[in-house]
Amino acid sequence: MSDTALPETCTAVQLAERPTGLPDDKTFRIVEQTVEAPEDGEVLVRVTYLSLDPAMRGWMDDRRSYLPPVGIGDVMRGLAVGEVVQSRHPDFAVGDRVSGALGWQQFARINGKEVNKLAPGVDWKLALGPLGMVGMTAYFGLLDVGAPQEGETVLVSGAAGAVGSLVCQIAKIKGCRVVGIAGGADKCALLEEEYGADAVIDYKATDDLTAAVRAACPKGVNVYFDNVGGEVLDAALANLAFGGRVSLCGAISQYNATDGIKGPSNYLALLMQRGRMQGFIVFDYAARYAEAAQEIVGWLQAGKISYRYDVVDSLEAGPRALLKLFDGSNTGKLLVRVDPHAG
Ligand SMILES: NC(=O)c1ccc[n+]([C@@H]2O[C@H](COP(=O)([O-])OP(=O)(O)OC[C@H]3O[C@@H](n4cnc5c(N)ncnc54)[C@H](OP(=O)(O)O)[C@@H]3O)[C@@H](O)[C@H]2O)c1
Repeated sequence: MSDTALPETCTAVQLAERPTGLPDDKTFRIVEQTVEAPEDGEVLVRVTYLSLDPAMRGWMDDRRSYLPPVGIGDVMRGLAVGEVVQSRHPDFAVGDRVSGALGWQQFARINGKEVNKLAPGVDWKLALGPLGMVGMTAYFGLLDVGAPQEGETVLVSGAAGAVGSLVCQIAKIKGCRVVGIAGGADKCALLEEEYGADAVIDYKATDDLTAAVRAACPKGVNVYFDNVGGEVLDAALANLAFGGRVSLCGAISQYNATDGIKGPSNYLALLMQRGRMQGFIVFDYAARYAEAAQEIVGWLQAGKISYRYDVVDSLEAGPRALLKLFDGSNTGKLLVRVDPHAG
């Protein structure tokens, strides 16, 4: 075990109460907590960047899910990257860069089994972007679940976002025609000019989304990558091509619903078009992350993928920044720079 001069306390963000609808000022509590030395098998990590993700909203609810809910009074769960500052685990040394569920805190004491070393030279942000959870989500959710074939039409909602922008670009790399749905003219321009979409739909400026999808996808939708759910999912189903696939990645339009989740009323399209709708959770693909990362690195190096980050400074700003995901004011992967000195 190596020691470096560390503060006695650090800032953390706890879940104070379970929100109804959007999180508000009472949802989180900012606290100072003791920085604890690691025990056998553990490491102490100085967190550099924290990823803010729509899934966090679901983790606040006490209901059946793929992960247990965050407890009231617990440090809020979050994927993050950081540097090992003390180690009592044989596989980790001081200075190692790692990723894991380090939480909303400046220092995380965590079992070495629960963190992964970053590949040498990988930028912090990249490790939470195309080479992180969102990159893996886009890659497997599109290629494994959606299984697009060259020449097919791929419709993507949340298309200018952290996952969606990658889905659009991977679909283009695979020779598909890509139609992106996003909110606002700026995001639609970004989709066409930077992410290579063949057509775009600004859902905020469209009265009839089903007609807009029909116009943009005249041969029907072969693959719909759903980040949004609700009415957008219905509009996609109404335009499903024969044998079409829906990859259910997320349903951000429903995460803060207070009057029940709006399910797809057009689900009979699956029957008539012999379609398939499949949900997935990225963690199911953990054993194959290296395969995806290798291919994504190749695309990045070849300049085939463009990517944006939306970085907010300081943990204290995290609770308010999280809301950007739900009002659409983030453009790109939303991150908190926890360590002001992190590059
Ligand atoms: N299955 C998995 O394992 C997995 C893993 C990671 C992420 N996800 C899901 O992937 C989706 C995208 O996540 P992300 O991290 O890439 O976030 P993101 O797209 O970077 O940010 C969220 C975006 O959602 C859009 N949005 C918010 N409320 C909306 C509404 N009511 N209707 C339509 N669009 C709305 C906004 O874009 P506009 O400005 O375009 O409205 C906002 O910028 C989420 O549903 C998330 O839960 C799933």
